[in-house]
Order: sequence, then structure tokens, then C-alpha cells
Amino acid sequence: MKIDVSTANPLKHETPALVIGCFEDAKDELFSACDAALDGCLSRLAASREFSGKLKTSHLLHTLGRLPAGRLLLVGLGKKGEFSSERLRQAAGNAVQALRTARIATFSSALQLAGGLPQALEAVTEGTLLGSYAFELYKTRDRDERFNFEGMTLLLPKGLTKKEAGAGIERVSVVCAGVRLARDLVSQPGNVVTPAFLADTARELAARHKLECRVYEYEELEKLGMNALLAVGKGSNEAPRLIVLEYCGAGERSRPVVLVGKGITFDSGGISIKPGAGMEEMKTDMAGGATVLGAMQAVAGLGLPLNLVAIIPTAENMPDGKAYKPGDVVTSLSGTTIEITNTDAEGRLILCDALHFGLKYKPAAMIDLATLTGACVVALGHEASGLMGTDQRLLDALKAAGERCGERLWQLPLWDEYGEAMKSDIADLKNAGSRDGGSITAGWFLKQFVGATRWAHLDIAGTAWGDKARPCSPKGASGVGVRLLVEYLRNR
Ligand code: BES
Ligand code: MN
Ligand code: ZN
Repeated sequence: MKIDVSTANPLKHETPALVIGCFEDAKDELFSACDAALDGCLSRLAASREFSGKLKTSHLLHTLGRLPAGRLLLVGLGKKGEFSSERLRQAAGNAVQALRTARIATFSSALQLAGGLPQALEAVTEGTLLGSYAFELYKTRDRDERFNFEGMTLLLPKGLTKKEAGAGIERVSVVCAGVRLARDLVSQPGNVVTPAFLADTARELAARHKLECRVYEYEELEKLGMNALLAVGKGSNEAPRLIVLEYCGAGERSRPVVLVGKGITFDSGGISIKPGAGMEEMKTDMAGGATVLGAMQAVAGLGLPLNLVAIIPTAENMPDGKAYKPGDVVTSLSGTTIEITNTDAEGRLILCDALHFGLKYKPAAMIDLATLTGACVVALGHEASGLMGTDQRLLDALKAAGERCGERLWQLPLWDEYGEAMKSDIADLKNAGSRDGGSITAGWFLKQFVGATRWAHLDIAGTAWGDKARPCSPKGASGVGVRLLVEYLRNR
């Protein structure tokens, strides 16, 4: 969507639709002026409880020539005392979804004028870009009836110049493009997004942003000894890979942050095959990798002054005569031997090799993201990602970044006692314990491969894919983690 800015007075501004914000318990100047222009229509809507400014509500009405705007979209902001950037972002997301329903492609927003928040323009831009997302690549019918947004004009608060506004809008657009990349990759089906496709995406990204890219193919992985990653890929015709991207935004001596993302392009469970119902959702099992690519694109686009390495182990987990099987023992890159007790616990296997590989960068911090366990969905539902790790300051910083950007994290413990479940009779570790504490035992397993590094693990199994529409995330891929990582890295 094209976004421009204008210093016009909303009451004198011609547009197909003007979006204004309304509090539940307070009327601001703009609301009162619109109400007056419409002969008290807005007060009547409140009196009849058709629209009273509650959060998550909106109301569209025609102005019939009483305002230069053809229509007015009222968007609820909730109680004034509880107002925040996150609420404004969500209001903007709700607004744009209502506009899509009404098929209004061009509009102007005055949402940012309500409440006087310092970062209001950014919040409205972000909510609009995130909330207007749709993945329609494979819809071929009725192409001409398909709806596309054209443009939004942001009406500037008094005292803000177009130039000042432009920088913030540009920054948010870059971050949202990273979210969009992650969403597109996760939405795409498994027969398109294969390990080879992810590798090509990384190469293109590198070419566009002057990043170093290296893709380790089968023989190189064998030579390196990444046997846990190779084992997972064995049952598939799509060869596994290790994708590495390096961004250098600071001096060569500055230790990088290393991001690791799970890139299982389809998780059938392998020989420990999953039930058929809902298995199609396992095309999203590369969401961690997609997020890392999206974050890398955003960080490079913003030119953040830090060094960043992205590592994506990628494979397809399939059953086959060549597939790895329960009872097998593999020697991981670190030398630790692992007895396979469940081929569906494949994420931790590809990650343990990637995490160990990451240590050679001497990371200032290492953060992995993975759709790792169904247990995390049971524990936290779809409202927060699971957070575990070795360094409380890193975890607190991530948690705080999550609060600020609306991608919440909730910490789980990694006490030593949880490791009992992961001890094997014949090898150092086994890859799956019982169902109890499943997210934690998976996190504990990963912890065995990070040494003394400051490390955080985000289990995004419940947050990467939404089965219902949310204000800033229409049904489907959420791109969760991209904004969180950028917010964290920006404040480091
Ligand atoms: N990719 C799944 C986890 C998952 C489940 C992601 C639901 C998104 C939604 C992972 O590879 C998996 O299968 N985990 C197993 C581990 C178990 C076998 C120890 C699980 O959670 O059941
Ligand atoms: Mn699995
Ligand atoms: Zn998986």
C-alpha cells in the first residue's frame, strides 16, 4: 500500500473515507467537530449504543456531503486512561480490515490525531501495513473482482513536518516488509517452499542488501559432521541445507548477535508419523527460519549499527525407506550422541547442530526461534511465545521488547531436574522424553549445545500461525518475531 502524508485539516480534506478514532469515555475536538458537521449523528450512535468507542469496534457511515470526506470510519480506542501505542496499532489494524470488508481502497487516516501519543504516526502506519496483509497468490478465480488497497494518506498532527514524519514512516515500512516476507514464506505451500527455495530466498536477500551468504549442501554438511540435521533430512527427496547470512553493520571486532531459525519446510513426523487431521498446518514448520530471514532483511534495510548472523538449518521431515528411525543413534556436530526415540521431535535435532555451529562466531548473544512443540500451544495458547534461556538479562530485554511491540513472551524454567527425562540408556541424550513439560524438555535439550553463550530460545509453535483474524494479523501466518527481534536489536 502506498502511504503519503498531508498537513490538511481533516474537516476540509477530500477523500473516499476518513478514519477517526473515538474514546469510550472522552470526546476530542475532531470527534466533536465531525459530530457537529453531521448534525449530531455520532452522539446519536453512542446514545443508541450502535457505536460507543469500545476497543475492537468500528462503524462506517456516509457523510452525504456534510463533510468533504465521502465516508467516515469511526474506530473504537477504548478508555482514554488505558490508551497505548499497542491499542493504537490494533485500532489501525481493525480500521484497515473494516475498509477491506467495505472495499474502500483509498482512504485518509486521522487516527494518529487522537490521544496525542508521541509515536502515533508509526503505530498507525504499522497497524495499517500489518492489518492489510492478504496472501492471495493462488486465488485464480474472479481476479478482476479481487480487492487491493491503493493508498493511505496520513493527516499529520499540528507542528509535525512532512519530512519529520517521513523518516518514521519509512522505518516502519522497512520493518513491515520484513514481516511480510516472513508471512509470505510461511503461507506458501510445502511444495513451493522447500529447503532449496529458502536457500534461494537467502541468496536473493544477500544480493539485494550486500550480505554474505553461504549455503552448505549435503557433502559439506557431511564433512562438517552435522549428522543430526542430515538424519532429519534423510527421508526426503529434498536435500537438507544449512543457510548462513552475515550482516556487518559494525566494526569487524564487534561480536555478532546470532539468530537461528528452525526451517522444517514440512513436518510429517517422519516414521513417527503425525495423524492426518491438520497435518497441512505443518507447512508452517519453517516459521522460525522465515522470521530470521524477515528480521535480517529489516535490520539490513534499516542499516542498524551491529553485526548479525542468521543461521537456518532446513530440511523436510518425511517417512521413507531411507528415513531415520526410532532407535537410531546419531552423533551431532558437537560430538554429543543422541538416541532417536521419536522422529517427530526433529526440530531440536536440526537446531542442536545449528546452535553448535553458531558458537564459532563467539556470539554476544544467540537467539533461536522455532515452532518447536505442541506442548507450548497447550501451555500458552496463541497469546504468547514460550521463552527460555541461559541469561536472565537477555531474556528480560526480549520480554520487554515483546511488551513494547505487542508480541508477548512468557518465560518457562530450564532447571537441571528437567534433564532427567532426556537421558538415554545407550547414548548421551535421547531426543524425546514423555509428554510432561514438553516445551521445557525441548528447551533443556537445546541448552546442552550452547555452552556458556548468552542464549535465548523462543518457542513460536502457538504464535506463528493464527486460526482467527487479529487486528494486526489476519488469519494465517503472523510473521511473529520479526518486529520483536528488530525492537530488541534496535535497543541494544
Ligand atoms: N513442529 C512440531 C511442533 C508443532 C506442533 C508446531 C503444533 C506447531 C503446531 C514439532 O516438530 C513436533 O512434532 N513436536 C512434537 C515433539 C514430541 C514428539 C516430543 C510434539 O510437540 O508433539
Ligand atoms: Mn515434529
Ligand atoms: Zn516440527
